[in-house]
Amino acid sequence: AVERTLSIIKPDATARNLTGKINAYLEDADLRFVAQKRVRLTREQAETFYGVHKERSFFNELVEYMTSGPVVVQVLEGENAVAKNREVMGATNPANADEGTIRKDFALNVQENSVHGSDSAENAAIEIAYFFAGTEIVG
Ligand code: CMP
Repeated sequence: AVERTLSIIKPDATARNLTGKINAYLEDADLRFVAQKRVRLTREQAETFYGVHKERSFFNELVEYMTSGPVVVQVLEGENAVAKNREVMGATNPANADEGTIRKDFALNVQENSVHGSDSAENAAIEIAYFFAGTEIVG
C-alpha cells in the first residue's frame, strides 16, 4: 500500500552539506518528497519528539545533539514507505549498517547517524502530525 513516513536529516548531515546526497538515496528508493522544511528544533520540540526515549541513558545527549544545528524534516510517500525508508537508512549504528545504505555511507556513530525514520505506520502518522499541517503536505 502507498504510505507516508517521517524522515529527518540530522545536524551531523546538514553540517556536512549532505542534504542533497541523502535526498538522492531516498528518491532512488522510489520515495517521493511530499513535504520538506529546514528547521532548528527547540529543546522542547526535541524532548517531545523523542519522549519515548526519555528514560534512556543517552536522552540528554540526544536532545543536545538534535538541537545543535539545523535539521530537515520531510514527509516521504511511496509503496511501503515506512519499511522502504528504514531499509535505505540502514541500521541505527552505522557499524551494523548494510552496504549502500545512508548510515553506512554517511553516519558518524550511533548518535550522529545522519537520519531518522519512523519505525511504524502508526508512529509515522503521529510524527508527521507533529511537524506538518495538512496543508503543507502536497502529494
Ligand atoms: P533515531 O532512529 O532517530 O532514534 C533515536 C536516536 O537516538 C537514534 O536515532 C540515535 O540518534 C540515538 N541513539 C540510539 N541509540 C543510541 C546510543 N546507544 N547512544 C547514543 N545515541 C543513541
